[in-house]
Amino acid sequence: MQRKSLQMVDHVAAYRDRLMSAAEAVGLVASGAKVAMALGAGAPPAILQALAERARSGGGLHDVRLYYMLSTAVAARTVLAADLNDILRPVSIFHSGVERALDAERLKAQAPAVDFIPAAFQHVPRLLCEHVGVDTLIATVSPMDADGWFSLGTNADYAHAVTRSGAKLILEVNRHMPFVRGECLVHVSQVAALVEHDAPLLELPQAERTETDDRIGAIIAGLIDDGACLQMGIGALPDAVCERLAGHRHLGIHTEMMTSGLARLVASGVVDNSRKRMHAGKTIYTFALGDGFLYDFLRTSPDVEAHPVEYVNDPAVIARNDGVVSVNATVQIDLHGACNSEHIRGRQFSATGGQLDFVRGAYASKGGRSILACHSTAAGGKISRIVPVLEGPVTTPRTDTHIVVTEYGWADLKGKTLAERAHALIGLAHPDFREGLERDAVAAGVIGRR
Ligand code: COA
Repeated sequence: MQRKSLQMVDHVAAYRDRLMSAAEAVGLVASGAKVAMALGAGAPPAILQALAERARSGGGLHDVRLYYMLSTAVAARTVLAADLNDILRPVSIFHSGVERALDAERLKAQAPAVDFIPAAFQHVPRLLCEHVGVDTLIATVSPMDADGWFSLGTNADYAHAVTRSGAKLILEVNRHMPFVRGECLVHVSQVAALVEHDAPLLELPQAERTETDDRIGAIIAGLIDDGACLQMGIGALPDAVCERLAGHRHLGIHTEMMTSGLARLVASGVVDNSRKRMHAGKTIYTFALGDGFLYDFLRTSPDVEAHPVEYVNDPAVIARNDGVVSVNATVQIDLHGACNSEHIRGRQFSATGGQLDFVRGAYASKGGRSILACHSTAAGGKISRIVPVLEGPVTTPRTDTHIVVTEYGWADLKGKTLAERAHALIGLAHPDFREGLERDAVAAGVIGRR
């Protein structure tokens, strides 16, 4: 008892020793530093603000590289502001609207666009720690518990590996960050600097849903059996699927991204994780981004755990549960079934993220399946998203694509010949484009002339 209280005193003292202002904390970032910035809601607003001020003040900071995924408005206003890009060089591993806007501006000025590293999400921790060698982490954490631990809360993902790599940890303690359990804890003894700043977590605005999203959502919900273990991707389509799952039973969750839609399914009892073989009874994610409901849910639910992305997105780990169904969106599908899910109009729009990790993990699970979905058209119906040739990189190769969905139905590509795939995919295209696609398929020798 006495020993325990002495330890608590030690942790409190260690906390006090490391507590400083944001300006002092960013003084620990050296010129030439390779800094990992937490993604989404984990990005620390006060530290970002102070780092931007230091860079702008002409205080001699130069050649800092910022490595990150999915940046948000707070980073756009601070460290990613265009006038600082040469001092704080952005290196994105997953673009958001912030990098798309910076790219557009830089291209107008004929300067190089934001740097980008292609990577599968499961490999990002190794890439940062081993190949890049980041030396600093800036991230938000929950308040410290009595044993001296902080939780990375919404963001175990790559942040967890960086906390174990020997990098300098500059952390913002925010009472709004939920103390989530799992493998996402950082001990005060490991930390270089603590900055206290209480700010509501960044909320992702609910994606606007269309009638087409709802039609696709209903088709996908029909492909999910009771007892399935779910992964849901980013965007309006996965949210539309969640709403359609209200009548399902005994679903489980092992997902890269924990969304508001998934949290509502747990709260309503549709998800009970009772059929999971691994982490039975628990909802598992690697990062969470959504609305206030999601963050309250994380704060009050003991059966939710956050784990590092090299674990959550490892196909061999995903496959340890049976009946895994992964649901992700794509941009374009070619007539062989290959998907580009990250380039639009010739530019990087997002990234590979965990799409291929889950496509492979779901198929490796007993009875599992991956679903890739998109509207049949873009640009107000002028462009078909089923195409003869992709206009961007292959995010999911044709060998991995399993079930494809548009508002015109679904097709299972496994076991289908090239000709059968082309016919099935043309059947999922908007009727206005089917004839043209058939001509393209004949010209390419994929299907015979009728
Ligand atoms: N040509 C031209 N424009 C296109 C297009 C195409 N082939 N495909 C899409 N667009 C347009 C859309 O019409 C839309 O425009 P709008 O905003 O004016 O309506 C815009 O580009 C965005 O497309 P949309 O399909 O609505 O994107 P989304 O926000 O639903 O995201 C992905 C879809 C595929 C980009 C996104 O899910 C992603 O990045 N996936 C890869 C990573 C991943 O799956 N990770 C898995 C777990 S999170």
